[in-house]
Amino acid sequence: ANGGGLGLPPTPPDRRPRASSSNRDWWPDHLDLTALRRQPPDTEGYAQAFATLDLDALAADIDAVLTTSQDWWPADFGHYGPLVLRMVWHCAGTYRAQDGRGGARAGLQRFAPVDSWPDNRNLDKARRLLWPVKKKYGRSISWPDLMVLAGNRALESMGFTTAGFAGGRPEVLEPEPVYWGPERAWLGDQRHTNVRDLENPLAADQLGLIYVNPEGPNTVPDPVMSARDIRRSFARMGMDDEETVALIAGGHSFGKTHGAADPEKHLGPEPAAAGPENRGTGWRNRYRTGKGEDTITSGLEGTWTATPTTWDNSYLENLFRFEWDVALSPAGLWQWIPRAGEGAGTVPDAHDPGRTHAPTFLTTDLALRFDPAYERVSRRFLEHPDQLADSFARAWFKLTHLDLGPAENYWGPLAPRDPLPWQDPVPPAEAAPVGAEDVAELRRRILDSGLLATDLVLTAWASAATFRDSDRRGGTNGARVRLEPQRDWAVNDPQMLMDVVRTLEEIRESFSGDPVSLADLIVLGGCAAVEKASGFRVRVPFTPGRTDACAQSTDPVWFGWLEPVADGFRNYRGPHARRPSEHLLVDRASLLTLNVAETTVLVGGLRALGAVPGGSSLGVLTGTPGVLSNDFFVNLLDNDTQWTMVPGRGGTEETFEGWVGSRRRWTASRADLVFAANPELRAVAETYASDDAGERFLRDFAAAWDKMMNLGRNLGRSGRPAS
Ligand code: HEM
Repeated sequence: ANGGGLGLPPTPPDRRPRASSSNRDWWPDHLDLTALRRQPPDTEGYAQAFATLDLDALAADIDAVLTTSQDWWPADFGHYGPLVLRMVWHCAGTYRAQDGRGGARAGLQRFAPVDSWPDNRNLDKARRLLWPVKKKYGRSISWPDLMVLAGNRALESMGFTTAGFAGGRPEVLEPEPVYWGPERAWLGDQRHTNVRDLENPLAADQLGLIYVNPEGPNTVPDPVMSARDIRRSFARMGMDDEETVALIAGGHSFGKTHGAADPEKHLGPEPAAAGPENRGTGWRNRYRTGKGEDTITSGLEGTWTATPTTWDNSYLENLFRFEWDVALSPAGLWQWIPRAGEGAGTVPDAHDPGRTHAPTFLTTDLALRFDPAYERVSRRFLEHPDQLADSFARAWFKLTHLDLGPAENYWGPLAPRDPLPWQDPVPPAEAAPVGAEDVAELRRRILDSGLLATDLVLTAWASAATFRDSDRRGGTNGARVRLEPQRDWAVNDPQMLMDVVRTLEEIRESFSGDPVSLADLIVLGGCAAVEKASGFRVRVPFTPGRTDACAQSTDPVWFGWLEPVADGFRNYRGPHARRPSEHLLVDRASLLTLNVAETTVLVGGLRALGAVPGGSSLGVLTGTPGVLSNDFFVNLLDNDTQWTMVPGRGGTEETFEGWVGSRRRWTASRADLVFAANPELRAVAETYASDDAGERFLRDFAAAWDKMMNLGRNLGRSGRPAS
C-alpha cells in the first residue's frame, strides 16, 4: 500500500488519497455548471411544517438560550444577545443589491466558504448555542428563519422593540455558488480599480469581510476615508445614509470586540480546514483558557458603552462626548480610545465584576461622527433617541427581510402588513384576468400591428429577464420595463422598446374587450411573436393576471440595481462586466432558475430570432434571422467553420469570427462559442443541432419561454406561478 515494493516512494501518512479531484482543480477557469443543476427547495413542505409551529414557545426557548451561559463558551456580561445579533447581521449583511445574492434567506453562513471567513470568527459558537433549539423544533423552523428570529429575540431581550418577523426561508442544505471576488487569499484585495472603484457585484472591500475593514480602508485608521467605503458598501446592500447610521449605531449599542491576543499567533484553522474532532467549528484558541476573557475574534478589544446588553442611546452619547485618539489593541490592530484617560472606569468588564475599562471605538464607528453627512444623521439621532429606535427597527427589518421578495411571501403572525417601498409593490388585480376570447383577439391585433417579431421578443424578454431568484425581485409583473430606469438601459434597446410599448399601449386603449394590463400585453406580444416566428408550428402558453406598477412606487435608485452587467441570452456585455461572458451567462441563468437544457435552448432560439439589442448580428448564426429554428446550433457545430479570436480592448478575448474558407461568415461571443467548447453544454447543443431535433427544439423553447414569462409570479408557498 505504501508503494515500497514497486520501487515507488512511500506515501506520507498525511497524503492519503482524497476524493477525486474536480475539473476546477485541474483547470481553474473551467466553467462550473453546478449552479444550473440545483434542486428547488421544498417550500411547500416547509410551509406545512411552519404552520404547526408555536412561535411564542420557540421565542421563549431562544430567550432561555440567550441568557444561560455555557461553560464551553461563557457569555460576555452573562448574555449571548450581542454575539447572536452579530451572527445575524453577518448572515443578512452578505446581501448585495446588484445580484440579490447573499442575505439571510440564502443561509450561507453554515457552509464554506462563508462559515470560514475571518470576519465570521466565533460565529460558529453562536450557531452551536442555537443547535438545541433547532434540534427541538426540527423541520418546523428552518435554520435561516431560526437565525433571523434569534436576531430579533436578541434585540428584544436587550430591551429593543423590533418591527416584526416573517418566516418563509426554506431550509438550506447546500450553499448556492456565489462569486465572492477574484482573490485567492483571505483579506486579499484585487477588487478595487482607480482610487476606490469596487468591482460589481461585490460589496465587501476585502475577501472574507462582510463589508468594510473595521480598522479603516486596508487597515489605515482614517475615519473619513472609512466613511467613503462604508457608504459605498452599505449602498450595495440597499441602504442609504440614515439606514447605515441606524444599523451601525444600533448594532454597536450592544456587546464588545474581542482581541485578547494576536489571532495569527493563537488561533487554529478556520472550520473548513479544521480536523474532524472540531465537528465543524474552527479557530481553536490556544491563548490561555481560549474563551471568556481570553477570547480572540477580530483582534480588536473593547466595549462601546456602559450598558452593553441594554438598549439605550449611550453609543452615540459616547461617540460625541469624547475626543478620540488612535491606539493599538493587544493584538496590534488600530482602534480608538478617549483622549487623556477620559472615560476610564465607565465600561464594565465582560467577565470580571471587579474590573472596569474606558470605552473603545472602531475607525468605522468614528466615521459616523467625522463624515459630515453621517454626522448630521448621528446628531439628530443623538438628540432624538426615538428616531434612532424607529430607523434602526425599520432598517433591521429591511436588512433581514429584503431577500424574501414581495410581502405575499411573508409567513406568520409577526409579519408587518403595511407595504414597504423596497418590497417592490405591484397593485392587486381589480378584475378577473382577461378571458380566452379577448386574448385571441389581442394576439391577432398585436401580430397585425406591424411590430417585428424580434422586437416583441426582445421587449418581453427585457420585461422577464430582470427576475432574480436570489431576492425575488424583477420579472414581468408590474411592467416596470416601461418605467425609469429600466426603459433607458442600453441592454433594453430604449428606442425599440418604447416603440413597442407605445404600439401595445395603443392596442390596449383601442380594445373594447375586458381590461388588460400592459404587463400582460408585453408578455402576450412575446408569446405571439414566438409562435409566428415558428411558422405557427408551436403553441406558446400565455397566463394573464399581471398588473401595472406606477412610477411613484418605482424608485430609480432601488430599481437601478436590477440592471444586468451582462445578459448572455441577448449577447449583451455592458461596460462594467469583468468576468468572462460565459461565466456571467451561467450566473444569470441561475438567477433565472434555468437549468442546463433550458439555458441552451433559450440562447439558441433567441439567437435565431435575432434577439440581440441594436440589431447586432453578434451570435446570430442563421441566414434567416427572425425565424425560430435550430440554425444557431447547426452552424455553431459545423466542422467547416474555423473560428478566430478578435483581440478586444484591454486584451479581453470576447469576440470571435467564424470563417468558411476565406469568407468571414459569422461573428460571435464567448457566450456563443461556449455551447461548442464546453463539453456539457455541447452535449445539449448537439441534441438540438441534430437532424431529428426540429419539433423538440421548438417545444423545449416554448416551454422554457413560458417559464421565463412567469418567473416570480404568485411566488407564494408553492413557489410555482399560478396557472
Ligand atoms: C462587533 C465591525 C456593523 C453588530 C463587531 C466587531 C467588529 C465589528 C470588528 C468585533 C467582533 C469581535 O471581535 O468580537 C463592524 C463594522 C461594521 C459593523 C466594520 C460596519 C461598518 C454592524 C452592524 C451591526 C453590528 C450593522 C448590527 C446591526 C455588532 C454586534 C457586535 C459587533 C452586536 C458585538 C458582538 C459581541 O459582543 O460578541 N463589529 N460592525 N455591527 N457588531 Fe459590528
